[in-house]
Amino acid sequence: MTFQKLPRHAFVLFSAAAFLVAFLPASAQQAQNLSQSTSWMNQALSPDERADLLLQQLTLDEKIQLVHGTGWGVSFPGLPLPARSNLGVGYTQGIDRLGIPDINFADSAVGVRHGALQSRYSTLLPSTLGLAASWDLQAANLYGSVIGRELRDQGFNMSIGGGVDLAREPRNGRTWEYAGEDPVLAGSIVGNLAKGVQSQKVMGDIKHYALNDQETGRNAFNILIDKRAMRESDLLAFQIAIGIANPAGVMCSYNKMYGDWACENDYLLNQVLKNEFGFKGWVLSDWGGTHSTVKAAKNGLDMEQPEDRYFGVLLKAAVESGEVPQARLDDMVHRILRSMFAVGVIDYPPMPRRVVDPFRGLEDAQQIAEESIVLLKNEALLPLSPARSKSIAVIGSHADVGVLSGGGSAQVDPPGGNAIDPKPGSAAWQVPVYFPSSPLKYIRKKAPSAKVDYNDGKDPAAAAAFAKSYDIAIVFVNQYMSEGRDNETLTLPDNQDALVRAVAAANPHTIVVLETGSTISMPWLADVKAILAAWYPGIGGAQAISNILFGDVNPSAKLPVSFAKAEADLPHPRIPGMDLILKANSEHRPPWVPLPPLDVNYIEGAKVGYKWFEAENKQPLFPFGFGLSYTTYGYSGLKVDDQQRQVTFSVKNTGSRSGAEIAQVYVQLPTAAGESYKRLVAWERIPLAAGESKTVTLPLNPLYMSIFDEKKDAFSLLPGDYKILVGPSSHETPLTAPLHVHE
Ligand code: BGC
Repeated sequence: MTFQKLPRHAFVLFSAAAFLVAFLPASAQQAQNLSQSTSWMNQALSPDERADLLLQQLTLDEKIQLVHGTGWGVSFPGLPLPARSNLGVGYTQGIDRLGIPDINFADSAVGVRHGALQSRYSTLLPSTLGLAASWDLQAANLYGSVIGRELRDQGFNMSIGGGVDLAREPRNGRTWEYAGEDPVLAGSIVGNLAKGVQSQKVMGDIKHYALNDQETGRNAFNILIDKRAMRESDLLAFQIAIGIANPAGVMCSYNKMYGDWACENDYLLNQVLKNEFGFKGWVLSDWGGTHSTVKAAKNGLDMEQPEDRYFGVLLKAAVESGEVPQARLDDMVHRILRSMFAVGVIDYPPMPRRVVDPFRGLEDAQQIAEESIVLLKNEALLPLSPARSKSIAVIGSHADVGVLSGGGSAQVDPPGGNAIDPKPGSAAWQVPVYFPSSPLKYIRKKAPSAKVDYNDGKDPAAAAAFAKSYDIAIVFVNQYMSEGRDNETLTLPDNQDALVRAVAAANPHTIVVLETGSTISMPWLADVKAILAAWYPGIGGAQAISNILFGDVNPSAKLPVSFAKAEADLPHPRIPGMDLILKANSEHRPPWVPLPPLDVNYIEGAKVGYKWFEAENKQPLFPFGFGLSYTTYGYSGLKVDDQQRQVTFSVKNTGSRSGAEIAQVYVQLPTAAGESYKRLVAWERIPLAAGESKTVTLPLNPLYMSIFDEKKDAFSLLPGDYKILVGPSSHETPLTAPLHVHE
């Protein structure tokens, strides 16, 4: 652990050496104000008991101060910044006289944002979609702990990240910030990520609650979806993630659900999140996502961010008039204080001005990237052998200098500025940013005696002429995505399909490396020999990509999203509202002019991703759970234990290289469930030496096999005959066995 407990005698020393105080972080100064004898500092008490004791001390004004932000601050240049803000995206002022720390919030979905503002360095991790492709819960924990560690080092005590909205719409501009299309996989990955953040004694959050599955019209659209479907899809992902992490915060989203804004939605916030999931932390609004005082307060919102428009004087007046009960305000504050105690930000305040360790960050980012890169196709070309690759043409996507990252509030500032257009300072909104991790450099390192050259790929014909004379051509293609807008299509932008086609026609040994935020269509699939999906691979991306290309790392990742052949195969061939946005753009209306209210009907319901393809009998380009390796695996010996509800099977590495296989367990529910698709219920990442075989036993969690019964308003495990399917992907399940659930 990298956090440091402040020893009690330190307070005495500090007060004796008054000059030191000037160099103490605000939170430590506040902690200093605590009397040793204050009852709520007794760590033997529970977080709830401590919060209640502290709550009794607060005046009405102080309570109100804790439930709102203090302005848009760093989000827009020129706005006033609160004196003690740590210059993250949000700041809520604490109560000095009682030692309640300020809350300094930092956007930190894939690394800590806004570093350049204060010459801070933050590690850029691979996209969380990439993390999900590792299917590795330990890697998720590591990912979160890197974020938590660097937040502490920079003096923040709250992380804003943990996106777990499902990849219902693969063109969603934030798909790369989420963890794929399956609720069990996404919930488990993001839950472990947030747990990792909180392991560093930094408060974590999970967002955007709920159903914010597209960016188009995110401030205007009203989601329509069956209750059962929503509980078995997006809300299940939240339920799992929240259950694993016990996060301090849940951020409610911008959209409406059944006519009510998510941040004042009684069903979502009170009934489901707080009562059913038992969420003990606080609900904070997405930035500017609060729409009322009384309704929001009563329906479950606990904190307005980043302003005090509704939860400042208006909330105070509503409490004084009795429109919002005092007990409700106390509940809001209790939730905030108990989370501070539970996570440890009062007992172990962060120590800012420590230097982030970029080398440790790089090592962790690279390790996660190596587990996240999916080998989609390989016609006996990979891994490359330096001896047989005498000349390599590297083409496109600025692979000479960097790797692409995603945009919006999850954008991390690159050290030294954008690798393709060096500009110091914070990354600009929706401008593609390349990180200084050069694939060309690392490919050269792997093949030191080969001729390795670069062509920018802007002109397909010139790139093809260039590629012709090399033994191998590696084309890097990219798909930029950002918060605040969706991609209109699955097609690669900037004529890159033509680039791949032209190079593949000129060079029979063409490899394509995808740097994409989500899935793409591949009209050139049959023309190329190998394809790697590297997502946005982070600051260790170039090393990870070249380690996989040359076989130093055997790829093990599997797809957390299905690749569709074309938009026509998606539930919404055209993104609802996209045409309204395009019209607004053509009229040069600024994007913040609200769209008219728009109903978005999630007709696919719980059939998200592979479930949709299976139920509709459509063939994806690449199925969920798919990924190749440089070795091969065999599955055998499935046994299902009806009583214990667990499955046992063996996986053997039948090839000649060591590797790790992600073995997946799916279940088909009894006919009474009315489901024409299978569900992922368990998996294991199994490291195997060449020739090695392992037997694993995995539990079948009843929640993942249950249906949401709307009549009972509860999950219910139906009695009847289930079918268990085990294998390497959602499309290949060589082992099957029945499972019977008795009445
Ligand atoms: C995003 C959130 C983000 C917040 C603060 C919003 O626009 O939806 O994910 O945390 O801004 O930057």
